[in-house]
Amino acid sequence: MSNIIILGAQWGDEGKGKVVDLLSEKFDIVTRYQGGHNAGHTVFVGTKKFVLKLIPSGILRGKRAVIGNGVVLDPGALLDEMQTLDQTGIDVGRLLAISNRAHVIFPFHRLVEKASESREGRTAIGTTSRGIGPCYEDKIARRGIRVADLLDRGNFRALFDSLGADKQTFANAFHIDGHIDYAATREQYEAFADRIRGMVCDTSRLLNDAIRAGQRVLFEGAQGTMLDIDHGTYPFVTSSSAASGGACTGSGVAPTRIGGVLGVSKAYTTRVGGGPFPTELKDSTGERIRKAGNEFGAVTGRPRRCGWFDVPLLRYTSDVNGFDSLVITKLDVLDGFDEIQVCTAYRTGGQITDQVPATAYEMETAEPVYEVLPGWHGSTRGATSYDDLPAGAKAYLQYLAAKVGVEVGCISTGPERNETILLPGSRFQQLIG
Ligand code: IMP
Repeated sequence: MSNIIILGAQWGDEGKGKVVDLLSEKFDIVTRYQGGHNAGHTVFVGTKKFVLKLIPSGILRGKRAVIGNGVVLDPGALLDEMQTLDQTGIDVGRLLAISNRAHVIFPFHRLVEKASESREGRTAIGTTSRGIGPCYEDKIARRGIRVADLLDRGNFRALFDSLGADKQTFANAFHIDGHIDYAATREQYEAFADRIRGMVCDTSRLLNDAIRAGQRVLFEGAQGTMLDIDHGTYPFVTSSSAASGGACTGSGVAPTRIGGVLGVSKAYTTRVGGGPFPTELKDSTGERIRKAGNEFGAVTGRPRRCGWFDVPLLRYTSDVNGFDSLVITKLDVLDGFDEIQVCTAYRTGGQITDQVPATAYEMETAEPVYEVLPGWHGSTRGATSYDDLPAGAKAYLQYLAAKVGVEVGCISTGPERNETILLPGSRFQQLIG
């Protein structure tokens, strides 16, 4: 079975965009299954940089791109992104399909998010402020508006007015200013509906028909496992199922149709927004990684928090997702370090454990237990063959694979597609074909 899920093994921003771009030539369809325009997938095509937030990056390679039912869709953001792609000659209208069951983000979702993030006494999550969480709240509360409703001229008006009135009441109660012209917004969304109508369909049917016809589907996760609503560092998470299970619920394709799961991890760790991060380095070493790795958010521009590789975290996300193989990215960022530390356990409540704590408080206070590995001299940047890596870099990768218990099947050594090492004979290569 050749349909594959690829997703982040840490807190997002692992460099999935490049890997998905690389793999997409082997697939017929690339689909997103959760999240919204909070994601930022950076892809370089030649010297041109694309930051895609909603549209699966396979579209840059002329592949069919599907926005699944598990995604929350801001039509304004989508149309902006479509326009940028259209301008570069990509036939978005032909290649993109949008689920009729995806939920729609409205300006009042951002208003509500502002209210909950800034409310006194509430823990600020440090969200991307795109209205993602409040839109998922409406979905789970069974009052959301889906793409199919947006296209339904007869019913949309009443649904919109009722939901908008609810949100304004909430915003007023918390003294949140930010005026929304509801009538103008409704008209704007009716216009959006007309512009996307031709691309909207039952994408579960589309994907299942394609699979029956022998086509290959790549499921592209957004964010990362540690931001998953169930398995992440709750409440410092996003509001969707970013882990591999979400690929099935968020696309309408069954687990029996999935052939493998690939996890993408940096050679170190980063996180944006609030929340626990045991191996975070708040010193000059963290700063060095941030600079070398250009660790600034693709969507919000916020500096990313940086730290060492965390083995218990990777073991945990490997279990949750069932990784067949790991892709290690940004290895070159560690070039030139005399020593590299790797967290192998946590010290918490006077005990040493290799389990990821369930509460944010316990994880916040967990102290990493480190093993120190020698760094390497020489550059890994742009290497395309495993044999060309310095001995210390090879030893580091072998150490990670052994500790996590999952092979390293692919290594990214720079942002360009060809700056990649595929390990011959790996499970990764078997799956990709
Ligand atoms: P939200 O997804 O905007 O609700 O934000 C919730 C948390 O997820 C915040 O800590 C964000 O910084 C984080 N987050 C959301 N999307 C991404 C992403 O694509 N990469 C990394 N972090 C993200």
